[in-house]
Amino acid sequence: MSEFAGKVVVVTGGARGIGRCIAEKFREAGAAVCVFDLLENPYFVGNLASEPDLRVFCDKVLAEYGQVDFLVNNAAPLFKGLPDCSWDEFNYALQVGVTAPYMLTRLLLGHFAEGAAVVNISSSRDRMSMPGTECYTAAKGGDCGAYACTGCVAGGAGAGEFHFAGVD
Ligand SMILES: NC(=O)c1ccc[n+]([C@@H]2O[C@H](COP(=O)([O-])OP(=O)(O)OC[C@H]3O[C@@H](n4cnc5c(N)ncnc54)[C@H](O)[C@@H]3O)[C@@H](O)[C@H]2O)c1
Repeated sequence: MSEFAGKVVVVTGGARGIGRCIAEKFREAGAAVCVFDLLENPYFVGNLASEPDLRVFCDKVLAEYGQVDFLVNNAAPLFKGLPDCSWDEFNYALQVGVTAPYMLTRLLLGHFAEGAAVVNISSSRDRMSMPGTECYTAAKGGDCGAYACTGCVAGGAGAGEFHFAGVD
């Protein structure tokens, strides 16, 4: 039997691209997969920039499964740059890339299984940028700093052996 059989996995941005592949691989391995995406998907359609949506999603996951083994913060922040990225758009990028991973971890705190892992899909853009993508780099860099300290807090908050990792 697969080591992931019966595990509960949350994948943000799991309706498309890399997140969709992650979700499919976990399903094939026998895990229950809870996708959170703006796009149509079999589990939950919502906006990661909305605190009410984050709360409704976590309530649903915990009501149905009781605990979480893996939280994969994968959804991609907005890709816009200095000349045309507005205040609202810049803040939206940070909400998707930094605030939502933090808030999901916080809302699930106390409900992570022994040995649980939070995986934030990062990018080499957390250390560098390209013209026209500054809000994306800000979100990736912010997430990098946030998971370093969130991991320490989460690890000491009753999750037992708790892993926190950023994947590039
Ligand atoms: N594709 C690459 O070359 C690459 C390279 C390095 C890192 N990454 C990282 O990998 C991850 C996945 O990238 P991808 O290329 O598969 O992205 P993608 O754009 O193909 O898919 C992202 C998914 O996130 C969802 N999403 C975006 N904003 C959302 C919101 N507000 N609420 C809910 N869902 C939302 C989208 O609907 C989509 O399904 C991202 O974190 C990205 O930064 C990608």
